[in-house]
Amino acid sequence: MSKIQKTTVSFTLNDLPQTLSVNPLCRFSDVLRKDLGLTGTKVGCDAGDCGACTILIDGEQRYACLTAIGQLEGQKIRTVEGLAKNGDLNLLQQAFLDEGAAQCGICTPGMLMAAKSLLDRTPKPTEKQVLEALSGVLCRCTGYTKIVEAVLKARQTSLEPVDEAGTAVGSRMAKVDGKQKLTGEEIYSADHAPEDSLWLRTIRSPYPRAKFTLNQPENVLRNNPGLVKIFTSEDITGNNGFGIYPHIKDQPVLAEGHVRFRGEAVIALVGERESVESVSEEDLGLTWEPLEAIRGWDMALSGKLKPVQSEIVDNILAEGFLKKNDVDKAFAESFVVAEGDWTTSAVEHGYIEPEAGFARKVGQRLEIFVCTQSPYMDQTEVAQFLGLKPEQIRIIPSAVGGGFGGKLDISVQPLVALAAWILDRPVRCIYTRPESMVSTTKRHPVQMSAKAGCSKDGKLTAYEYHGDFNTGAYASWGPTVADRVPIHCSGPYFVPNVLAKTRALLTNESPSGAFRGFGTPQAAIANDALLDELAEKIGMDALEFRIKNALRKGDRTPTNQLLEKSVGQVECLESLKSRWRKWRKEAEIFNQNNTNIKRGVGCGSAWYGCGNTSLSNPSTIRVGINGKGKLTLYNGAMDIGQGANTIMVQICSDALGLPASQFEYVMGDTDLTADAGKTSASRQAFVSGKATQLAGENLRLQIIQLSEASENANLRLEQNKNVGSGKLIVEDEAGEHVIVLADILPQSNGDVLIGEGMFDPPTTTLDENGQGSPYATYGFGAHIAEVEVDILLGTTKVLRMAAAHDLGKTINPTQVEGQIQGGIAQGLGMALMEEYIQCVSENLHDYLMPTVGDMPEIEIILIEDPEPLGPYGAKGIGEHALIPTAPAILAGIKHATGVSIRHLPATPDRVYTAIKESGNNYE
Ligand code: FES
Ligand code: FES
Repeated sequence: MSKIQKTTVSFTLNDLPQTLSVNPLCRFSDVLRKDLGLTGTKVGCDAGDCGACTILIDGEQRYACLTAIGQLEGQKIRTVEGLAKNGDLNLLQQAFLDEGAAQCGICTPGMLMAAKSLLDRTPKPTEKQVLEALSGVLCRCTGYTKIVEAVLKARQTSLEPVDEAGTAVGSRMAKVDGKQKLTGEEIYSADHAPEDSLWLRTIRSPYPRAKFTLNQPENVLRNNPGLVKIFTSEDITGNNGFGIYPHIKDQPVLAEGHVRFRGEAVIALVGERESVESVSEEDLGLTWEPLEAIRGWDMALSGKLKPVQSEIVDNILAEGFLKKNDVDKAFAESFVVAEGDWTTSAVEHGYIEPEAGFARKVGQRLEIFVCTQSPYMDQTEVAQFLGLKPEQIRIIPSAVGGGFGGKLDISVQPLVALAAWILDRPVRCIYTRPESMVSTTKRHPVQMSAKAGCSKDGKLTAYEYHGDFNTGAYASWGPTVADRVPIHCSGPYFVPNVLAKTRALLTNESPSGAFRGFGTPQAAIANDALLDELAEKIGMDALEFRIKNALRKGDRTPTNQLLEKSVGQVECLESLKSRWRKWRKEAEIFNQNNTNIKRGVGCGSAWYGCGNTSLSNPSTIRVGINGKGKLTLYNGAMDIGQGANTIMVQICSDALGLPASQFEYVMGDTDLTADAGKTSASRQAFVSGKATQLAGENLRLQIIQLSEASENANLRLEQNKNVGSGKLIVEDEAGEHVIVLADILPQSNGDVLIGEGMFDPPTTTLDENGQGSPYATYGFGAHIAEVEVDILLGTTKVLRMAAAHDLGKTINPTQVEGQIQGGIAQGLGMALMEEYIQCVSENLHDYLMPTVGDMPEIEIILIEDPEPLGPYGAKGIGEHALIPTAPAILAGIKHATGVSIRHLPATPDRVYTAIKESGNNYE
């Protein structure tokens, strides 16, 4: 094939003329990002599926990834960098900031451009027009609600100024990292690498189980001068295994002659990008011997094929067990019993930012810039893999374009680390969308059966649960899921007798890992369905039944833990009561007047222990002031969009007594911040939030002691950004005490005063029956959903939802609402459409996630039953927000149609078939 000649293309970019000599077929997204350095335009798929790359071409929204630069001759282009003027956000950007419309921010440039094209044409659009305009851009974090509200707000010609004083705990303070997400200045993992970086591409298995050989790599190297090295498992000098647990490092970084799932890494090619990308698998002489794969729960347990991992002969990686009292006796004495079986599908995290990063050698250390939820775990993992000391590894986290648990496991880290260490050159890697989807973890598919009983007056008597979780080829978080589910499977209810057994089973499928809830959302589906059935059997309203049985202060959980404080489940359910009655009534009236469309209203509940299960779970946070008065929060709690950077500043500001606007922050850099643990298990607001409060209080105490002022003194910080010293003015009843900061000897990072806080929530280990206190606190919640089912098509539309959550104390209502709306979007996807199938839905075209048009109207009710251990009473919300959604939607389908969907997602074909098989006559 003849090489394509470069041509000259002239166009206007953000009001400035541009002329480039380029290959006319190049994607414009690549030209913007690589040639012009405008990385504000993001790439989530390179295939026209996600909309992250949306730009304006002559005022129309277009995907830059599907636009060849040659098409742009004479056109006017606008990108996100062309919105703000002289550093001032435009009205649309300001509305996004005020409304909290950007969480992780990776979709935000695309959303802004889609909204701008609408507002330029139609300055006062209707909500329907806004939904249409945004329908081509996916957001995985926000649930779209705040984005739509922001665009509607931008119809005004001016915005109310934001109250600058509203920064304390409980206020709607704007994100501290919000502005850079709205201007395109935020640096994500694919946005930055040293100029001289080599490119790394991984060759992955196309088979779920196979042996392989590599025959002629030296020929490839000889024929491709730009190719520097082909890495195989033989190049790994440390431990070629990684995994979450110190004792289970079962997943090879590069497979050793045998692969266990489709997408497993086999070889890493490193060199100049064009050379690396031009090598084919045939060139490499890679030969495969496919083997029969173990798929699904039954095959895993059948023993017919060789086990997935030879040391685990029965494919049972881990088991969970909980026994409280005697379920058999209790079931025998129950007035009614309900039971059933359910299965769920693998669910993809679907963050819009594929994994990326680079590593470079600095002396005898490695610096790794990467998207991650857990920098300190990455540090330990890479060190053990390379046979280095942890302190030789510095993890510098990028901004994270969504995680939801999927970026707890390592991805590019060991690959770029190995190559950079051996070649002594910077090496970068950016996963393609299909690579991200085939190689990373999923939500565990589960096959579960459950049984519940109650007395005549509607008190729960017993609950039994068996769940086999398909954990795929490697452990990832399988044992954690097996442990967490038994504790939570009977829901936020007092049940005197509980028996729960779980297994994490190895198969030749994608490793299943952590995904918002660690198995709890799946178990909640069975739990809520059974509660509805029991209520129906005894003729009780389903919500009243839940209220009657909800956990209260003084109750004991299935692990026999006494709940003494902060148990807001009854309040959550009570707060939904009036809507529940009204919506159910309205649905009944609607159904009397409609034949082929039926409405139903269902309820789902959640409780979730905040933090690691029965494990030490510490977080350390520091805050420092330097000689010039620069005030820095050293925040090791990764912000993956949920707002940790912002709420930690709010908490520290209140604890220290200085305004939030004076804070700068560092996030997650292992050289600069202390270990705050991972961003998972709804722990950061509770655990790191408390550590932050303690750090602020510690610094305040030092200042008070230094100035010999009284405890309630007011602090004022005079910051001197240029030359000279900053000053702390401490004012009490005796007058002003001045601390000249430059007069104090600097400690670490140049800070002269450093406050530190550490918090490790109290938990106990569980005994052989799973009894003990696995979490220091629990968050609670309940959702109700109204759905509309088309009986002839089997389609389900969620019309409205109400969500009540007890989160102890709301640090920032905007952030919390965003978490709940985003959780509902993911729960809705899990309930109705999301199903990851190998070879079928390995891209964002075939894998369906909710778009803006799928979202219902959402009402949020925040309940604050303070947790004394938490920062100002706060607990977590991240996972609680998702758990009740799918159960509520499925219960709504049941209420509408009379059928109970037992295999998720409830796609139109499944709903239609269930209705047909039920024999229900809607005529
Ligand atoms: S990157 Fe262009 S649509 Fe996804
Ligand atoms: S804010 Fe939209 S994907 Fe994260």
